[in-house]
Amino acid sequence: MPAHDAGLHNNRQDRPISSTQSPMLSARNVVKSFGGFVALDKCTLDIAARSITGIIGPNGAGKSTLFNVFAGVTAPDSGTMSLGGRNIAGLRPDQLAGLGLVRTFQISRELGELTVIENMLLASPTQSGDAVWRLLFNPGRVRTEQSAAIAKARALLEQVGLWQLANEPAKNLSGGQKKLLEISRALMLDPGIILLDEPTAGVSPLMTKMLGETITRLRDQGLTFAIIEHDMDVIAELCDPIYVLAEGRTLMSGTFREVASNRDVMHAYLGKVA
Ligand SMILES: Nc1ncnc2c1ncn2[C@@H]1O[C@H](COP(=O)(O)OP(=O)(O)O)[C@@H](O)[C@H]1O
Ligand SMILES: [Mg+2]
Repeated sequence: MPAHDAGLHNNRQDRPISSTQSPMLSARNVVKSFGGFVALDKCTLDIAARSITGIIGPNGAGKSTLFNVFAGVTAPDSGTMSLGGRNIAGLRPDQLAGLGLVRTFQISRELGELTVIENMLLASPTQSGDAVWRLLFNPGRVRTEQSAAIAKARALLEQVGLWQLANEPAKNLSGGQKKLLEISRALMLDPGIILLDEPTAGVSPLMTKMLGETITRLRDQGLTFAIIEHDMDVIAELCDPIYVLAEGRTLMSGTFREVASNRDVMHAYLGKVA
């Protein structure tokens, strides 16, 4: 597989379109156990560049574990993972973010106390731990970086209608607004691919529609998404292809129609209920 990670870097506007059909993000036979429990059991899956790939499956199927493994939060026991043809096994979340792979995180209780704009600036790569030292030795540069980060944060917040709430503590946002902020935080890192774990959980129907429009607009600008989602209307509307995970492995993949009409998929869900 040729390395073409140029497509993963920075600047959504002028990102080159991948010249090959090779997947952007792949997992091959990934295994992850917790104690004796096998959460991922030789899981294999490909996410194509510029797709909105859906991942569905019963509770406990291993969906969130797969994202944690992709994002460098959890180390897999075995198997391989690649991003743009490059092996990403063992990389930390910040290293993966540098390569363009980002997963969103819920606004924690601590982050909820910070304002919307503070949340954005905290996500910015220029706000690294050594900022204090650089401020001592090169205050002008830090100020320039900060005003650039503020301008970027403002542009991103304006795109999702959150700029007028910039000075509001994040905890005061609605469920849907928090999700938009989580995605906007991820965008501060100029990702090529964003992993979203249940983005519409606890979100009103109106805001779910707006989230869907935002995700579609970003995809049209060149971003790739992988989305774990329970809401089948959202899956049907946004995602192609869709992977069905069950008991830690890929049961099948296809369009919504193909997946929804598959007997094995129905059994995987019904088996969980029964
Ligand atoms: N850190 C962990 N420690 C122990 N078990 C875990 C851990 N994370 C996930 N699991 C278990 O792995 C299985 C898959 O979990 P998860 O990936 O969260 O499923 P899903 O997101 O598909 O609902 C579940 O049975 C869960 O209890
Ligand atoms: Mg989950």
